[in-house]
Amino acid sequence: MTYRSILVGTDGSETASEAVRHAARLAAATGARLTIATGYTPDPGAVERAQAEAPDDIRWRITDSAAAEEKVAAARREALAAGATTVNGRVEGGDDPAALLLDMADDVGADVIVVGSKGMSSPTRFILGNVPNKVSHHAPCDVLIVHTAD
Ligand SMILES: Nc1ncnc2c1ncn2[C@@H]1O[C@H](COP(=O)(O)OP(=O)(O)OP(=O)(O)O)[C@@H](O)[C@H]1O
Ligand SMILES: [Mg+2]
Repeated sequence: MTYRSILVGTDGSETASEAVRHAARLAAATGARLTIATGYTPDPGAVERAQAEAPDDIRWRITDSAAAEEKVAAARREALAAGATTVNGRVEGGDDPAALLLDMADDVGADVIVVGSKGMSSPTRFILGNVPNKVSHHAPCDVLIVHTAD
């Protein structure tokens, strides 16, 4: 049994990037294609405020998805450096990052979803983040929770 399509979720945190590197090494070892996914929650009010303060020439760059796109691009560079060869990025907006990841897993025909045990909000080291918790309950494929304690 080998993996052909790996999906890894990142919120741009240092702990999530451990999961990205782990997924990249798994992709390199199996020859699977890797998709790096970030879910973001649209916030039209925040975008409008940031656009109002920005100079005219860069205002167009401020969108809801821009920060998520940057996180995915950075993670993609890390994955390539860790040995993965076919790496795609995906950004989707919605309220629930776990639900977005599950949808994206479906879209790319993932046979394993890789997530870190915790992310940006870093609860105590004994608590699993909401995303791995929910993904593990609903995934239609394997789930690999990378232990990212400090
Ligand atoms: N917005 C997101 N998009 C894609 N993957 C995510 C996203 N947020 C978290 N993940 C994945 O889930 C892992 C755990 O993060 P999670 O958000 O569940 O924990 P946390 O931030 O420590 O706590 P909380 O449950 O309060 O958010 C991350 O390492 C990452 O792999
Ligand atoms: Mg989180």
